Amino acid sequence: MKRLLITVFAALSVLTAPAWARDWQTIQASGKLHAITEGAFYPFNYFEGQTLTGFEVELAEAIAKELGLAIEWRTVPFDAQIAAIQQGRYDFAIASHGYTEQRAKAVDFTNPHYCTGGMIAARKDGPLTVKALAGKTVAVQIGTSYLENARKIPGLKALKTYKSDPEAFAALKAGKVDAWISDRFLVKATLEKNGDPNLAAGEQVFYERVSMILQKNNPELKEKLNEGLAAIMRNGVYQRLSQKYFGEDVSCP
Ligand code: ARG
Repeated sequence: MKRLLITVFAALSVLTAPAWARDWQTIQASGKLHAITEGAFYPFNYFEGQTLTGFEVELAEAIAKELGLAIEWRTVPFDAQIAAIQQGRYDFAIASHGYTEQRAKAVDFTNPHYCTGGMIAARKDGPLTVKALAGKTVAVQIGTSYLENARKIPGLKALKTYKSDPEAFAALKAGKVDAWISDRFLVKATLEKNGDPNLAAGEQVFYERVSMILQKNNPELKEKLNEGLAAIMRNGVYQRLSQKYFGEDVSCP
């Protein structure tokens, strides 16, 4: 029995042990960055047919190019990404992670690649302000800052969580909830693209700085990602992509 238990514990610790993420030397020698995103957060990271694209995907590609590297992409559900990075399974994630103290205990953040906020969307005659949300049902994606901030809104009737943001939006469209909270640029782009003339963007609920995340204690990789980001902000690539996707400069003031 004792031996069996020891074997089970040994097997478990191998499965759960945090591995070290690759350091800069190792990454450079391999010629490739291992990056993750979600692929369901339009227009930041999404699929156009079979192709992964979006502001963050193109931004990361441009940063990698500055660093003389290619990117090997994987998509991981948003709510599993922090654990995946913590476990050192990928070099970094770029999937619109807003800085929070809670997350900063688990992973490191690079300098922000855009600034934004959570925004309400609802029917034109529905709850478009924080005040009007009292007694209402709100949809948010699980694991997000929208969920954390919606929890602070007084008097909500219910907070419904969805695995992905498009599912939360679909719930609003179908009239299953009174409102949806998501990124302000995403809300505008989504309403423009899949517009339902009865829906509108409402009040901004909170503000956040969005960054790439990487495992803690990988200072050289963090420095390189920051250098690459600074370089594309200097050479105009960032501004071109920001205009392409949003028609405005989304960098942090
Ligand atoms: N900005 C929000 C946050 O920090 C949501 C990000 C969701 N990203 C995604 N790829 N679904 O939690």
